[in-house]
Amino acid sequence: MTSEIISSKELKKIDPVFGQHSFDDHEQIVFCNDKDTGLKAIIGIHNTVLGPALGGTRMWNYANEWEALNDVLRLSRGMTFKSAITGLNLGGGKAVIIGDAKTQKTPELMRRFGEFVHSLSGRYITAEDVGMATADMDTVREVTPYVTGISESKGGAGNPSPITAYGVFMGMKAAAKFKYGSDILEDKNVFVQGIGNVGEALVEHLVNEGANVTIADISQDRLEEIRAKYGATIYGGNDIYSEDMDIYAPCALGATINDDTIYKLKASIIAGAANNQLAEEAKHGNILQERGIVYAPDFLINAGGIINVYAELENYDRQEIMRKTENIYNTTLEILDNAKVNNLTTHNAALNIARERIETRKRENLK
Ligand SMILES: NC(=O)c1ccc[n+]([C@@H]2O[C@H](COP(=O)([O-])OP(=O)(O)OC[C@H]3O[C@@H](n4cnc5c(N)ncnc54)[C@H](O)[C@@H]3O)[C@@H](O)[C@H]2O)c1
Repeated sequence: MTSEIISSKELKKIDPVFGQHSFDDHEQIVFCNDKDTGLKAIIGIHNTVLGPALGGTRMWNYANEWEALNDVLRLSRGMTFKSAITGLNLGGGKAVIIGDAKTQKTPELMRRFGEFVHSLSGRYITAEDVGMATADMDTVREVTPYVTGISESKGGAGNPSPITAYGVFMGMKAAAKFKYGSDILEDKNVFVQGIGNVGEALVEHLVNEGANVTIADISQDRLEEIRAKYGATIYGGNDIYSEDMDIYAPCALGATINDDTIYKLKASIIAGAANNQLAEEAKHGNILQERGIVYAPDFLINAGGIINVYAELENYDRQEIMRKTENIYNTTLEILDNAKVNNLTTHNAALNIARERIETRKRENLK
C-alpha cells in the first residue's frame, strides 16, 4: 500500500487502522488520551530496523481523527525512508497531537505527552514539527530522555530549520546541475511557497547566490518582513502553480503537487522542504517524469533537520552536521542519475535505495 492524501469520506470506508491507505506495515500505533490535560495524540512507529523511530510531533487542528491518523501514518513512514537514505541508524516514527497549538498547548499537556513517549522505552524518540517549538521539547525533556531538538542551553542541537534549509539548497543545486548542466542558481526564477523557519533560511541562500526569488505565504506580515530583509519579490497573483518559473520550492505543508496543480506547473525543477509533497506518490511521480519536471525527492533533500537532531544522540559536532548535510548534493545527483538510467521516477529511485538499506540491515540482524 502507498502513502496518499485522501478525503475523510474515503478514509472512513476502509478498516480504521490496519486497513488505512497509509498503514504500509507500521510496527506500532499508539493512541494517547488524557482527560485532565485534554491530550489526544497518536504516535506512529513505522519501522525500527535501522534504529529507534525518530520523528517530530505535530500539533494541528485536524478536522477529524481520520485525518490525524492518516497524517501521522504518512509522516512516520516518510521518516523511515528519510533516515534510511541519509545513512542514519534511525527508524521512522512521528506523533500528532490533535488540537490548536496556539490555544490548547500547555506545559501540563506536553509533559503528559512526554510520559506517553517515555512509556515506549525509547522505541520512539520525539522532536519538534509544525506547532511545536524548542521550548516544548525542553518541557518534554523534564519527563523523558527520549526527546531531541531541545535548546542548546540544555545540551541540545537547537533549531534544526537553518540546517534543513541548507540541505534543501544543496538538493536544489544538484537538481539544477542535473537539469541545466550547472548548479549556479544566479538569475534563476525561484518561487518559495511558505516562508516560515525553513523558507526564510532558504530565501537567504538563494538571494546570496543571485537568484530571482519570489515569495508566497498566507501571512502578509511575514511576506513584508522577508521582503524587507532580503529584497525578495512578493507574489501578487492568485494561482502560483500557473506562473512561469524555473524552480518551485514548496516549503509550507504537503500534497501541493496534486491533480489540480500538476498539469499547470511550468517549473522545470521542484525542490523544497515540505514533507509529502506528492499527494499520490506513484501517480504524481509518474506525471512529473512524463512532463520532464525534475523532482528532488522531499524526504531526501529535507533531511538536514534529522541530521541535526541525530547529532544529539551520537554526539557529533556542527562541522559533522554541515558535512553530512552538504552531502545531500551528492546523494541527490546520484538518485537523479539513477532514475534516468533505470527509467524510474526520482521518488521511486530514492525509495528503492532506502528500502534496500533497510532490507540489508534486516538480513544482517537475522544472522
Ligand atoms: N523545520 C524543519 O527542520 C523541517 C525539517 C523537515 C521538513 N520540514 C517541513 O518543511 C515545511 C516548513 O517547515 P517550517 O519549520 O518552516 O514550518 P513553519 O511553520 O515555520 O512555516 C510554514 C510557513 O508556511 C506558511 N503557509 C502555511 N500554509 C500556506 C499556504 N497554503 N500557502 C503559503 N504559505 C503557507 C505559514 O504561514 C508559515 O509561514 C513543513 O512542511 C515541515 O514539515 C521542516
